[in-house]
Amino acid sequence: MRILVLGGTSFVGRAIVDDALRSGHEVTLFARGRTVPGLRSQPVLLRGDRRNGDYAALAEGTWDAVVDVGGSVPRHVRQAGETLGDRVGRYLFVSSHAVYAPGAGPGADESAPLRTPEWDTEEVGPDTRGPLGVACEQELTSRYGGRATVVRPGILAGPYDGGDQFTYWVRRAARGGRVVLPADPGQPVQLLDVRDLARLVVRLVEEDRGGVFNAMGPAEPLTLMGMLRACARAAGSEVEPVLVPPETIKARFPLVRPDPVWEQTFQRDFGRAREAGLPSTPLVTTAADVLAWDRERGEPPLGVGPTEEVERVLLSYVQGA
Ligand SMILES: NC(=O)c1ccc[n+]([C@@H]2O[C@H](COP(=O)([O-])OP(=O)(O)OC[C@H]3O[C@@H](n4cnc5c(N)ncnc54)[C@H](OP(=O)(O)O)[C@@H]3O)[C@@H](O)[C@H]2O)c1
Repeated sequence: MRILVLGGTSFVGRAIVDDALRSGHEVTLFARGRTVPGLRSQPVLLRGDRRNGDYAALAEGTWDAVVDVGGSVPRHVRQAGETLGDRVGRYLFVSSHAVYAPGAGPGADESAPLRTPEWDTEEVGPDTRGPLGVACEQELTSRYGGRATVVRPGILAGPYDGGDQFTYWVRRAARGGRVVLPADPGQPVQLLDVRDLARLVVRLVEEDRGGVFNAMGPAEPLTLMGMLRACARAAGSEVEPVLVPPETIKARFPLVRPDPVWEQTFQRDFGRAREAGLPSTPLVTTAADVLAWDRERGEPPLGVGPTEEVERVLLSYVQGA
């Protein structure tokens, strides 16, 4: 198949491109060309800038499918659709679980209520990301109808992850010893290996399948404690979790969701994606691959989670209490 990927060089898109190439498809990338992918076999890169509405490089060509990983405001999707029109067969948009309104109970599926769409700003932040995503999805389906596919991933993990949330726990578990866990250890966690998401996306376009798909993982329910143990197993380390009441500390820990509303975000139903072929890589494998990648890149400071120093202070406080 001929697949056009809007984006495709950083994390999520990179995994999709890698899977598509491995599956024997012909891939074209559209991006500014600032992020260098270093993929095994380099696809053609068409340069443009969605922020400026510069889609001139896409004025010609036909593709069986377009996978949009870089659209964050509805104008991006509208302009891409206006440019590509019927020169693409299927338009798959990688959206996110942020589109869901809070409050749906555990087990909520793709029919759960969405946030109110936002059309009047292009500022993407914690309050607007979800509403802008809803507007992107509406822009897509109003143009492409049955030729539209929407994939809504939860938190993703894997090599090249710039979000650092899972990487924090992988790195922390590898260090071993006493580990501060400021949460209910039984708190559910949903985490999807980015390569599983990529397989689902490529499969959906291969099968020309429309509709909306939640994309979470792993297949079996996971808790925070289970995640920490899996990370330790991947590293061959020993960890001793030290449970701390979350309300007693200010430091924020990745993937810890004290608020019950947010806890529900980790109990979404993703049966439709599983039925469509979403794989479930064992978490130990994901953790081992993240650990290897993180070490290879030299373990730079992470954007989330407490530093070693802050955790040491927390531990001494807990020991002294
Ligand atoms: N990480 C998660 O846990 C998670 C969870 C749910 C959903 N998602 C979704 O995944 C998507 C992001 O994934 P990603 O960043 O890893 O995707 P990616 O496709 O790997 O990287 C973003 C791409 O967009 C290109 N780009 C950035 N600004 C551009 C512009 N102005 N014009 C044209 N191209 C531009 C970048 O290349 P250049 O810099 O070279 O332009 C890069 O190729 C988002 O839609 C996000 O909502 C992520």
